[in-house]
Amino acid sequence: MTVLITGGLGFIGSHTVVELIEQGEDCLIIDNLSKSSIDVLDKIESIVQKKIPFIKLDLLEMLSIRDVFIKNNISSVIHFAGYKSVGESVKDPLSYYQNNLISTLNLLEVMDEFDVKKLIFSSSATVYGDLHTPPLNEDLALNAPNPYGRTKLMLEQMLKDLSETDSGWKIALMRYFNPIGAHNSGKLGEMPYGIPNNLMPHILKAANGETTKLQVYGGDYDTADGSCIRDFIHVMDLAKGHVQALKFVEAHNGCEAFNLGTGIGYSVLDLIHTFEEVNNVIIPYEIVERREGDIVTSVADVTKANTLLNWSTQFGLKDMCYDAWIWYKATKRLSV
Ligand SMILES: NC(=O)c1ccc[n+]([C@@H]2O[C@H](COP(=O)([O-])OP(=O)(O)OC[C@H]3O[C@@H](n4cnc5c(N)ncnc54)[C@H](O)[C@@H]3O)[C@@H](O)[C@H]2O)c1
Repeated sequence: MTVLITGGLGFIGSHTVVELIEQGEDCLIIDNLSKSSIDVLDKIESIVQKKIPFIKLDLLEMLSIRDVFIKNNISSVIHFAGYKSVGESVKDPLSYYQNNLISTLNLLEVMDEFDVKKLIFSSSATVYGDLHTPPLNEDLALNAPNPYGRTKLMLEQMLKDLSETDSGWKIALMRYFNPIGAHNSGKLGEMPYGIPNNLMPHILKAANGETTKLQVYGGDYDTADGSCIRDFIHVMDLAKGHVQALKFVEAHNGCEAFNLGTGIGYSVLDLIHTFEEVNNVIIPYEIVERREGDIVTSVADVTKANTLLNWSTQFGLKDMCYDAWIWYKATKRLSV
């Protein structure tokens, strides 16, 4: 039986495939390579020391998805594929609605047809919006503040509706907080396409002298050092969360949401200074105007994932900074 991994050559998907293979699962990756490179497949294979089946496929093409289900014995799906940049989604909402919604609808229709009803879905902490005081738990009201977040919110609602109509579905909605870090082999990490959306790729560029100064958006928030607070989580801890979620859906019908974070908030400046300290580098930065739409503090309540998934994080902020820099140096062939 095979776990189908959509978007499996992207940042989180690639790390999760490594973890799944190491836990003895068989995986089939599909990805249209719109935001990733085929080189990632070689990197995964060199870590796990075996060939991983891969099909280049766009989830917008339903017939191609059907073909995958006809030819393979798929038992469950982890659905990472999608666009993820908030800024891009504000500039071009239609491409986000089309890619994130239609591709998921296509996938669900085929899963339904082939009676494959175990699904782990990549959602985001963005669905909590800025309505609540952290820590954020899964029962809070949702209110996504931008088109990207709204695609996640709509898909979550769609999946809940589906599981209420057909009790055969077994769905886990994974609400990621701020994944950073890299695989400790130095072979896999976050390689953004275009202008990076997340903070760590900017930190890496600044540490490597590729940008003159890292811009920190807002230094006058009501936090200890004035910068925003986030719940950074090591991507390998996130990957392990998916392995546990897969076990959970094996045993539970319905649709459950889970926060994946550490439950600990660090400021943007904490992250920069920890990176400098751990890696013995200087990160030139400047504090600029607040960025519209940024939430001051986003920290997960991870009680539900700790309890129901039997999962907890192993890595701290220093590990995240260390592993990210090792990977970046290897990628850029910098001297260690
Ligand atoms: N990285 C984060 O900070 C973060 C936070 C919260 C949620 N998420 C969600 O997690 C998922 C994975 O994120 P990531 O950081 O690995 O992103 P990523 O961009 O690195 O990976 C996504 C992958 O999906 C592929 N893809 C996109 N559209 C496709 C389509 N129509 N058909 C087939 N493949 C397609 C891309 O080529 C890419 O390889 C996304 O759904 C994202 O929205 C990410």
